[in-house]
Amino acid sequence: MPPQTPLKSRIHTAVTDAVTRARGAQGAAVPARLSEALDYATTPGGARIRPTILMSVALACGDDRPALTDAAAASLELIHCASLVHDDLPCFDDADLRRGKPSVHRAYSEPLAVLTGDSLIIAAFDELARAAAEAPERGLSLIRILAARTGMPGGICAGQGWESEQTIDLSAYHCSKTAALFVAATQMGAAAAGAEPDPWAELGLRIGEAFQVADDLRDALYDTDALGKPAGQDDRHGRPSAVSELGVSGAMKRLDDILSGAIASIPSCPGEAMLAQVVRAQAEALTPVAPVIQRG
Ligand code: IPE
Ligand code: IPE
Ligand code: MG
Ligand code: MG
Repeated sequence: MPPQTPLKSRIHTAVTDAVTRARGAQGAAVPARLSEALDYATTPGGARIRPTILMSVALACGDDRPALTDAAAASLELIHCASLVHDDLPCFDDADLRRGKPSVHRAYSEPLAVLTGDSLIIAAFDELARAAAEAPERGLSLIRILAARTGMPGGICAGQGWESEQTIDLSAYHCSKTAALFVAATQMGAAAAGAEPDPWAELGLRIGEAFQVADDLRDALYDTDALGKPAGQDDRHGRPSAVSELGVSGAMKRLDDILSGAIASIPSCPGEAMLAQVVRAQAEALTPVAPVIQRG
């Protein structure tokens, strides 16, 4: 299905080009199944909310180096896709389905799923290193932001690591597992456009928090067909969630409150009003709508 808006189409092109580079030149001797798995894990993709936010922030800040913004958006989406491939493995969530199709280890094998995730992470940083040639200072800043939000101590590796602890620090867990890549999105969007990234962290944190609550609601209320991934995973794995803590209506109210705070925290920039609209639209798209599918 072709992307419907100029932004979606720009993201689609950026991600597709990055994946094509990661798979190797046509005719080159590469392991064919691993190359195919890179494509399988990234296309057609999911909602692509992180690159959407990244590009929207860059546009709001002037987007004066579009090639750098494209590389930043693609690299962030590759990291996200890699994290899902690893997250679905039997040693993590053991999930058979992702985006309505068999997860990578089900379709290609566990070794190839590990290597797919690894290859995508490395390709993400390579994209940034390539693009950094035209603006080394901004490029370096992008690499450092993405590294901080991907690894230890505050990135998604840390987030997944909390699941192996006896007691979970809930706020640190959610912050690093989910919000980290949203902070990367807002900060990388700003950095790609030459703006100071620090003031953009709060918006990313708040969007990440809202996303986590919306995801908990969808996990509790929707079935596997609607989600395209196994439903009820939080309950099954005994993971803390906004729904188990606050109930459905409490979680809905919480989502609303976080969103108002997110919009209020947008730093002053030329595209502030446009960005508020994007954040609102993304949130609406994620929020479960009545009547929801109630599982028995
Ligand atoms: C799923 O993220 C992983 C979480 C952090 C809960 P998304 O819901 O953004 O996944 P896709 O990319 O749209 O499939
Ligand atoms: C996935 O979190 C987040 C990362 C891979 C960092 P979850 O395990 O909660 O998300 P889903 O439900 O599988 O998408
Ligand atoms: Mg998980
Ligand atoms: Mg999972």
